[in-house]
Amino acid sequence: MNAGVLGIGRFLPEKILTNFDLEKMVDTSDEWIRSRTGIEERRIADDATKSSDMAYDAAVKALKNANLTAEDIDLIIVATVTPDTPFPSIACIIQERLGATRAAAMDVGAACAGFMYGMVTAKQFIESGTYNHVLVVGVEKLSKITDWKDRNTAVLFGDGAGAVVMGKVSEGRGILSFELGANGAGAKHLYQDEYIIMNGREVFKFAVRQMADSSVNVIEKAGLQKEDVDFLIPHQANIRIMEASRQRLGLPEEKMSKTIKKYGNTSSSSIPIALAEEVDAGKIKDDDVIVMVGFGGGLTWGAIALRWGR
Ligand code: UT7
Repeated sequence: MNAGVLGIGRFLPEKILTNFDLEKMVDTSDEWIRSRTGIEERRIADDATKSSDMAYDAAVKALKNANLTAEDIDLIIVATVTPDTPFPSIACIIQERLGATRAAAMDVGAACAGFMYGMVTAKQFIESGTYNHVLVVGVEKLSKITDWKDRNTAVLFGDGAGAVVMGKVSEGRGILSFELGANGAGAKHLYQDEYIIMNGREVFKFAVRQMADSSVNVIEKAGLQKEDVDFLIPHQANIRIMEASRQRLGLPEEKMSKTIKKYGNTSSSSIPIALAEEVDAGKIKDDDVIVMVGFGGGLTWGAIALRWGR
């Protein structure tokens, strides 16, 4: 039996920061941001809202959607690069708030690929029979590590959280294949000092190749053909990077999630947020084959082919 998704939830802060707002903050334009990245606006958490608050909200919704309670959870994994403080982990903070007293808890740091790393880790525990239910959350408050004077990065990022509850699903459904990878030699291209420092062009080149390769690799590993893919959920980093994956899979435009337009790049929360939106919108139905693929600072990457449904 495969591990799959039993429930899903997301949280987006209310405050919207538009490209026009950014025009007043740095030397940029709505036209530049829109055409180079596909972003029109992003959400920004207020000062009082911590990463753990957003993670908690998304987790509560995912548990409800899965028809499970906090006591059912055996393990909590939170993917993030913006924990409230280096320790305790966000996983421990929400373990207490949820009342998931039986659950082990840890954060994973794999930047924008973190949610893929989290889901694959959950799969190992579930399919080995060690744990029944694993809560996986992706959450970021990137606004607190964004240099709002640096136009290279300020236009890209946003805040938010997404969560899934994973467990055993019916035969044929769930995670069909995955790929995880890292190249520490590329760490210098994307890292946090006080703020996010990024060599955009280098990251772009890496991402275009890696996202497209990984998308195809997981389909082959699953013994499927490109034609079998129903929907693509790429990490929402840049529409031009996402398009490269879509085109390699030969998918029509409407079969790819484009929440980037509204939320920008929310790092490890971008994939679960996009997944939750598409499921809610009825774009992903039971037995659809979806490909999720992400890349990020590290450099890291990860992809999953999954047949949707419990
Ligand atoms: O989750 C992973 C996080 N990182 C990423 O996904 C980033 C990947 N990289 C990218 O998405 C793109 O490289 C960017 C969106 C960051 C930049 O787009 P680009 O097409 O690679 O632009 P560029 O860096 O080649 O810059 C082109 C021009 C430059 O001006 P000159 O040298 O041609 O005169 C930049 O100075 O655009 C200028 N520029 C801007 N102009 C207006 C750079 N940022 C901005 C800006 N507004 N915000």
